[in-house]
Amino acid sequence: MKQLLKTLTETLAPSGYEDAVREIILKEVNPLADEVRVDALGNLIIRKKPTKSSKNPKKIMLAAHMDEIGVIVSHLDKKGFVRFTNVGGAFGRYTLGARVRFLNGVTGVVGYDRLEQIDNLLPINKMYIDVGATSKENCPVKVGDIAAFERSFIEMGDRLVAKSLDDRAGVTVLIETLRALKSTPNDLYFVFTTQEEVGTRGAGAAAFGIEPEIGIAVDVTPTGDTPASIKMVMELGKGPCVKFRDVGMISDPRVVDWMIQAAEKAKIPYQREVLLIGSSDAKEIQISRAGVKTGALSIPVRYVHSASEMVDLNDMKNSVKLLTAMLGKPVSV
Ligand code: CO
Ligand code: ZN
Repeated sequence: MKQLLKTLTETLAPSGYEDAVREIILKEVNPLADEVRVDALGNLIIRKKPTKSSKNPKKIMLAAHMDEIGVIVSHLDKKGFVRFTNVGGAFGRYTLGARVRFLNGVTGVVGYDRLEQIDNLLPINKMYIDVGATSKENCPVKVGDIAAFERSFIEMGDRLVAKSLDDRAGVTVLIETLRALKSTPNDLYFVFTTQEEVGTRGAGAAAFGIEPEIGIAVDVTPTGDTPASIKMVMELGKGPCVKFRDVGMISDPRVVDWMIQAAEKAKIPYQREVLLIGSSDAKEIQISRAGVKTGALSIPVRYVHSASEMVDLNDMKNSVKLLTAMLGKPVSV
């Protein structure tokens, strides 16, 4: 699982440009799939059919987003400094000083206009990317070129650090769940979605096409367990989080009950999640077509949307266990 997570997080795939990561996922899941489809938005849709003897298979959509936050060139100045804007939630405080890599392979470092004002807020429209150019003419990137953080994966015991753990951690958990499920009485759609970071766009289109009865997003959740962080109960290493609420949705209580009962029966540690910032693909699945009973399983992650997000490997393993326990049996939600 660690090797897969390393490969996935070291791949560059900002919102709208998910091809590279989709190829890697496809290689992993192809041998495990009954049907494979890529829709117009680039969502990778993997179906695992119910066993023939299954009486009342439930159509369940699982979603983990493949894309990551990034930056996009808005203009170049005379000296070849690259001005940019955000793609998704790239915050100034995490972007300054970062290295970024463009899809064409060009790398750059992010600088700030007025270093003496560094202790004030850090809006990214006061930043630029220095790609080593000396003029507009020899600048190796153009307006519209897109980049994301450049950072390698590191291990600190069970704590793993990488860029784009949001949501490659979720992608890894879905792949490992598909691998662990030998057979299922349910009709399962594992969807690796696009453009979550710019407004959960891929998941809505995918859900419309699939028309599931039940939806579950697998994404990360920020924690409240670092010094002076905002007050939230989620902690690293205490198990997967069963979402009750975030800024975009109220989880369906029937789905919440299903998740909690499965965790308690299988003795898998879990946490209750009320998230004060952000949302996930689940909000889009829930309100697609005439509505879908939807919940979310979240993997606790520190430093979300920085170039060094941190996850606990045990939370990922327990997420796989919980999903496998939930999906391997008939569902009465
Ligand atoms: Co995110
Ligand atoms: Zn996410």
